[in-house]
Formats: sequence, structure tokens, C-alpha cells
Amino acid sequence: MRWFCAGILLFSSFAMAQFPGGPPPAKGPWSNPKLPPEERARLLVQAMTLDEKIQMVHGIGWFFGPDMSFTGQAPPPIVYRSNGGGGFIPGIPRLGVPDLQLNDAMVGSGGGARMGRYSTAMPSALALASSWDPDLAREYAALIGKELRDQGFNITLGGGMNLTREPRNGRNFEYLGEDPLLAGRMAAHYVQGKQSQGIVGILKHYALNHQESGRYFVNVRMPRKGARESELLAFEIAVKEGQPGSVMCAYNLYEGDYACENAYLLNEVLKKEWGWQGFVMSDWGATHSTVKAAVNGLDMEMPGDTFFGEALKAAVEKGEVPAARLDDMVQRIAWALFRAGVFDRRPQRQVPDIFRGFEVAQKAAEAGIVLLKNDRAILPLDPQMKGAIAVIGGHADAGVLSGGGSAQVDPAGGNAVTPPPPKPGSTLLDMIFGTPVYHRSAPLKAIQAMAANAKVSFHDGKDIAGAASLAKSAALAIVFAVQHTSEGKDLASLALPDRQEDLIAAVAAANPRTVVVLESGTAVKMPWLGRVAAVVEAWYPGIRGGEAIANVLFGRVNPSGKLAITFPKSEDDLAQPRLVEQPPARGPQDMGPMFPGGPAMLRVNTRQFDLEYPEGARAGYKWFQSMKREPLFPFGYGLSYTSFAYSDLRVDAARREVTFTLRNTGQREGAEVAQVYVQLPASAGEEFRRLAGWQKVTLKPGESRTVTVALHPLTLAVFDEKANRWDTPRGTFRVFAGGSSADTPLSGEMTLP
Ligand code: BGC
Repeated sequence: MRWFCAGILLFSSFAMAQFPGGPPPAKGPWSNPKLPPEERARLLVQAMTLDEKIQMVHGIGWFFGPDMSFTGQAPPPIVYRSNGGGGFIPGIPRLGVPDLQLNDAMVGSGGGARMGRYSTAMPSALALASSWDPDLAREYAALIGKELRDQGFNITLGGGMNLTREPRNGRNFEYLGEDPLLAGRMAAHYVQGKQSQGIVGILKHYALNHQESGRYFVNVRMPRKGARESELLAFEIAVKEGQPGSVMCAYNLYEGDYACENAYLLNEVLKKEWGWQGFVMSDWGATHSTVKAAVNGLDMEMPGDTFFGEALKAAVEKGEVPAARLDDMVQRIAWALFRAGVFDRRPQRQVPDIFRGFEVAQKAAEAGIVLLKNDRAILPLDPQMKGAIAVIGGHADAGVLSGGGSAQVDPAGGNAVTPPPPKPGSTLLDMIFGTPVYHRSAPLKAIQAMAANAKVSFHDGKDIAGAASLAKSAALAIVFAVQHTSEGKDLASLALPDRQEDLIAAVAAANPRTVVVLESGTAVKMPWLGRVAAVVEAWYPGIRGGEAIANVLFGRVNPSGKLAITFPKSEDDLAQPRLVEQPPARGPQDMGPMFPGGPAMLRVNTRQFDLEYPEGARAGYKWFQSMKREPLFPFGYGLSYTSFAYSDLRVDAARREVTFTLRNTGQREGAEVAQVYVQLPASAGEEFRRLAGWQKVTLKPGESRTVTVALHPLTLAVFDEKANRWDTPRGTFRVFAGGSSADTPLSGEMTLP
């Protein structure tokens, strides 16, 4: 380990020395840090020429790192100023505007391997959401923000928060679950964590980007009420409470207009109604026009200049785009930069603190692990146990799985598992997004270290009969099951792939003491659930995932994660989206080639289709409740090694607060995510409950605490489409408290004044 870290330090220092920093700090009235950011931005915009303004509102192209060998092109000189991240805007030395270095960083600073950079691979965002711990979200994001700075970046592209409406979406691992309050609040804390490090924070992909299939050309149709009460509510909470510097508009269309030129989404809702002062950045290649996009609220084209370079300059000169609108774009960008401290606190390149990274990554992994089943209290295992443990499958001898696409963090030391050769007919895109990457944190090793007196052996699970016979001879079998997901493709099914279902069934038949550990990017179907003794959902657990899993299995950590998404029994129970016009098949072939030259991808797949999500506001558990369908595991669910009792509910309607007593009735210290749901008065016509607040409380055995949960006002309101405003309905609200959306021992009522 020491050599491994020393290697990283050396390699990183070498890489750092190659790249000079940006231009020196400015001398101008806007450089006074005592002035408010909006004033500094105003002074800067005043001093700018038309060309300088145009330079600020677009990137310099699709390939912008000094290492462009894979494109076969010679880089233009300017790219040597770029840090090789996801995007680059050259600074303006005359005015002291620093180079803007953008990088993907939802679960860690991405794409570093080519640049010789190390960054901490954090557990997936869905794992973070499963912790239900906003303070942890801040700490997790601050760690990533610090590493971005250490690597010389000043704008993050990581802030994914599209609601999980479709569990087969390949990007759910990058997002924060299916509930608007949970996702919105976690995203708000996340973005503040990033911004605390002098990095411009972002939320994405705004909005209604719920699937990868057809993402470049799907026209999402959903009445405003449904959109406002689900996805847009999540963004509303996150934007208002998190105050991001930037919001990235999505690839898809909403009600006939691309998200990046959608006046309703950008101008009306985000900027006017929510009063937000930051800038809208397009997703990569999601800009489709100059005048329409500029007038309807887009402030920055990324990654190139097809529409916001010369074309925008000409449109401003002709008066097609008002000069004041261009000023507004730059004002918003400059505001975000000044506010985050990008002008004043220039990144000092340094090697990230690897050990601090390990600490936060492991803490987050442990907090997000969800214990789904634990028959006869088979877990936690006794670290003193003797006898044989069979560890089977999932490359548990090598590492832990991660999610693919732009949120991929390069594995320190390389992929722990040599990827299988590409399938015949695979595109470059399939290879980039489709290759499973394992981080070097082997659960097998962590289990061996924990259970020093046991005989721990490993079987890769490929020969199912062989794995079953090893399980039969052991006191206990632990099967690791993996589900790889990625940007760029959705899952055809929530079933575990590659005969892992058969493997689990065979091992469980051979040994009733079988524990399944899942490393998944989203929900998993479990036809084998009744046959196994325990199930631990570890998500993509990051660079210390093996250690975190072992700590939970052996009880050093008492699990406290709760599901941020519903696990359905079958895809048939999900709301079925309605495709209008010619639907392309679900799957990676919808994407079109992204290389070479990026924008080509927009020409390949231009066949638009309409997609209606019939559930509207009823995403996730709300759909299951209103259809009276039983999920496999409900939203908010998760077991602990101790137990909790809820009592004495009091509802304070005037303060919109709920108070109750929570008691640890078991033998171990543990944390409970105490959840409060509301059912609106009958006039709202809702046959489901809404999460209205929660608190995560740690209690010693026997300890009890009075818990007060404030109900978020927007979870008590309905969106009136005609009047275009939120209204709180009259009548009796029912209030419920408990340990999951489906287990609420306490209930009460309130009538709001
Ligand atoms: C993704 C964004 C990402 C961008 C830059 C796009 O394909 O949708 O989430 O930030 O690429 O890598």
C-alpha cells in the first residue's frame, strides 16, 4: 500500500509540473473581494469587449487536453493551457479572468488517468442518498471539491440529481433517488460542499432527463403539474437551498423544445420564478440554436462554439440577440465565479490527501449500505468465528464495481479486473461506456483480515456446480453479485446478468447460510430472495468498498442506510411510459456514435419521438402506493442490527412540525432514519403519501429521544397549473411517522391554519 501511494504521489507531482497555472489575479475594481459578487460581476462585464464576452460563453471544442493522441489530431496551442478535464474556457489575462477548467466529478474527479492524476473514487451518489444524511453529502462533496482544486479545476460538472423515475436508467447510480425532497435536499448540501472549496457547483441535468435511451432526441411530455411536483420540485428545493453557481440543461426536449432552449424551464421557472442568479450551461452537444437558445435562457454552450461563438457574435451585431442578453449571460457566469472564490482563491496544484479520501469514502460507503434481509439474525457475523467461509463471485477477490460514463473515476492502479474482450459489433461508445471498472478494494481480503480464525476461500462463480460444492463444504457462503450500469445505455432488465441468479440459487440450495452482497447501480430483481438468509445492498461502494462491506458483515458498523429508490418485484409493476411516433428500441444503439467530432452524434440520431411518463408526480413509491402494488422492497426501507420503537406522535399544525419519541429497543447502538410522510386532504385526489421530512438519529441501546421533524412546505402544497403557483389545500392532512414508506406505526392529523 505504501509503495502504491508513493507511486501516486510521484506520478501526480510529475503531472502537475507540466501545466502552468492560469493568468495572474486581476487589477481592476472587480478584484476587490469586499464588494458583493453581483457588483464585481457588473464591473467586469462593463470592462469587456464584445469578443471577450463571447469568449466567456462557450468552450473551445470537444477535445481539449494536451493528450489528444486518441483523436489522431494535433492539438491547437491553446489546449496546452487546458487541464484536460471535461471542458475548458481560456481566461482573459488583460482582465485577470482565470482559465476555466471544468471536470466531471459526481462521485470523484473523473478522467484523470490520462493526465496522471489520482482522485478518490467515492461510493455512488445513490449510495450517498441511501445514507439520508445531508451533512455527509456536504462532506462527501467537499472532499471531491478539494481534490478538484488540488488538480487545478475550478468548475465541477458533478451534481446529478434527476429523479429515478425509471429504475432501468443506466445513470441512476449518479443520481440521488426517486423522491423530490430527499434528492433536492441531498443535492443542496452536496452543491454547498463543492462550493465550500472554491469550486463553482452545478446541478444537472435540468430537466426530465430520466433515461439514456434516445436521450438526444426524446421529447418528454408531462403536464406541468406532474413535472412541478416531481423532478422540478427536486430542482426547486436544490436550487433554492443549495444556490448552485450553475445548472446544466439536459439533452432531451420537454413539451416540444430542447431543454437548452426551453423558455419555460430556463427563463420562466429557473431564473424568474426561483430568482436564481447563476448560469445555465448546456450538456455536451445539447445546444441546438443560437438565437432561440440565447433568448430562451441558455448562458453557456459546451463543449464547443458551434452556436455561441462567431454565430452568437453575428446575432448580437445584427440585434437578433439583444446586447443586454449577452451581458446577462456573462454577468451570471462572472457572478458564479466571484461568489465561489474562483478569482480570489486560485487552485494551488497539490497531491490530493489520499488517506483523508479513504476515510470519507469508507464512511460514506458504510452509511449508505442497506441491509435488506437478515433471517434469524445471521448477520452480523462473529469475527472470532472458526470454520470455513466460501466467498463466491463478483470478482470479490480483486475489487469492487463502479458505474460507467462521465461519472467514472479512473481506478487507482488500473482496473482491478481485466475487462472481457468487446462483443462483436461493439462501437467505440459501447467500449467507453460499457466496460466495467473495478476499484482495488477487494472484499475477500477485508473479510480474511476480519475473520482471522476462519478459513476463507474464494470461487469466481463461473462454474456454478463448483461454487455450490465449495458452499456446501463451508459454514457460510457469501455471494457477491454485480450489476454494471453506465451512462449511455439503459438496462434491459433488473435481473442480475450472466447467470448470477442461477449461481445464487445453486449456492443457497447447497448452504442455507448464504448471504448475498449486491454491488448494483440501481434496483435488482430477486427471484432467489426466499432462499437466501441475508441480503446486503452495497451499491458501487468506492475505493474503500471492500472494507466497508466487511465492517457491516461483521458488525463493526451497524447498517443504517435506507433505500432511496423502490425495488420492484417485476418491471411489469412499473409505470409504463407511452411512446408516440416511431420508437427506437431501448438500448445502446439509440445513442449514435460520439466520435469523431462530437456534433456528428447530433446528426446521426435526429429522429424525435414523444414519450409520456403516465405516473407524472407519482414517481417511485408514489406509483406503487396509488396502484396498490406491493414492491419487493419499499422506498425508505432498511434493517439494522438493533430495533427501534416509535411512540407519542404530536402534530403542531401552526409550526408545521411533527414530534415523536424514538427508542432503541435492541442491544446495539444504531442509527435510524425516522421518516415523516403526509397524505394531502381528499381534494388533492392523491392516493399516495409524500415524504415531508426526516431525521437520522443515533441512539445507544435503551436510549430514547424526542425527535422533531419540520414538514417541508412544498411537500404540503399542490401546483395549480392554471394559476401557475403552489397552493396548500384546505382540509385535513394525515401525518405518518416510521422507519419506511411502508411501515409507519404512528399517525395523526392536522388542519393547516
Ligand atoms: C453528460 C454530462 C457530462 C458531460 C461532460 C455528457 O455526455 O451527459 O453529464 O457532464 O457529458 O462529460
